[in-house]
Formats: sequence, structure tokens, C-alpha cells
Amino acid sequence: MELSIKKPENISVCDHPLALHNLTIMRNKNTPAELFRNATRRLAEVLFFSATDNLPTVKTEIETPLVGTEAIIIDPSAEVIIAPILRAGLLFSEVASNLMPDATVQHIGLYRDETTLKPVWYYNKIPKKFANPLNTFVYILDPMLATGGSAVEAIKLYVNKDIPQENIRFLSLLSAPEGIEKVHKEFPNVKVITAWVDDHLNDHGYIVPGLGDAGDRTFNTLYK
Ligand code: PRP
Ligand code: URA
Repeated sequence: MELSIKKPENISVCDHPLALHNLTIMRNKNTPAELFRNATRRLAEVLFFSATDNLPTVKTEIETPLVGTEAIIIDPSAEVIIAPILRAGLLFSEVASNLMPDATVQHIGLYRDETTLKPVWYYNKIPKKFANPLNTFVYILDPMLATGGSAVEAIKLYVNKDIPQENIRFLSLLSAPEGIEKVHKEFPNVKVITAWVDDHLNDHGYIVPGLGDAGDRTFNTLYK
């Protein structure tokens, strides 16, 4: 994989066998919606697990059934935000909030106009201000990073609220090189975490070889 990105350290391809196996199930056009969702959940779990390795930790004192000991926990003062891009990010977000039940979930309502391929807003309820932006960690979730238009809009929301780019991670199950490049052109210090980077986008902005329309396949809205 060769990417002409400014900071290759800010892309992480989580090509774990479990991730790739489930991505293959998702790619297969004969996979029905229920199995597509199951594979999405498994892949999302691997990816979210790997993406949260930047969370700050602190030591605490606890009692095990045997002795008192020092142990590690995620710093309770850190604000963790799971930000799914609707609608395809919903399932991803369900998995992430099962792994981090105390995180805040902030839905981002964007869809991509089919003709212009530009993102269109329809829902945004993120707060006006964050109490401690430097101690806020954001995980933006979307199964697909294609042209990068939706990703850039979502990242902008948080950067405009003074959250450092280094604290924002964009998680996509599958990405196109064009999308990664666009994100890093605008936000070189936002890390993109993905299971795979495909070859290219077609004339309709679809990732090739890809998996088709993630939202339609997840919610079984592929009308014939
Ligand atoms: C898909 C996908 C991303 C976006 C990616 O959503 O889930 O949000 O397209 O494309 P981009 O990188 O070119 O912006 P879609 O707009 O189809 O909406 P949906 O999830 O509601 O189906
Ligand atoms: N959105 C999708 O769901 N699939 C693509 O290939 C591109 C954008």
C-alpha cells in the first residue's frame, strides 16, 4: 500500500486476521444483512479496541480477594466521546459504547449527496463548549472513508471546539486513499485507523473493490 500522505505515522491499518476475515464477509455481495451486521460488529470491536490505545491511564489502589494492590484504570478525569456519523456509524457506535459504557455518544447527522458527493448536515447536537478540551478524547466512527468529505466535516466540529487534533481519531472499517489524503491535508495530526485501504474510488465515489453502500447493507435498504 503506497499513500501520498503527509504523515504516514497518522494512519494505522489494523490488518489483524480477525479484522480482515470479517471485512471479507462484509465485502461479499452474497452476505445477507444479518450476517453483514454480525461481521461489522466483530470488525468494529477489533478496530475500536486498537484505536483507544491513546487513552490516559492512572494508578489506583484496590483490594483483590487476596491482597491490596496498585492497579491501572483509564483516567476518570478524561472525557471520552464516541461520535458516530449517521446512519451507517450507528452499529459501530453500539459496539464502541458496549466497550466503553461511560463514554458520551454524540451523533453526527451527515449524508453524502449522491450527485455532488458533498456532505449534507441534518443533525448536530454537540455541546457549544467542552469543559476541558485538552483532556477530551474523540473517536469518530464511520464504516466508510471514501472522498473524505464527511470525515472532514465531522473532524472540523471538534477542532473548532479547541480539541487538539492529536486527541481526535477517525475510525473507518474500510478507506479509500483519496479520503485519507483529504483528511490529512486538512488535519495532518488526526490519526486515521482503518482495517484496510482499498485501491480507488469509482466515478460515483464508491470505494473499489469496496463493499457497496454500508448504510444500505446494514439496514437492509437495498431496494431492487
Ligand atoms: C456513507 C458513509 C460515510 C460517507 C462516506 O454514508 O457511511 O458517511 O458515505 O463518504 P465520503 O467519504 O465520500 O463523505 P451515506 O452518505 O451513504 O449515508 P448513510 O450512512 O445515511 O447511508
Ligand atoms: N459510502 C459507502 O457506503 N460506500 C462507499 O463505497 C462509499 C461511500
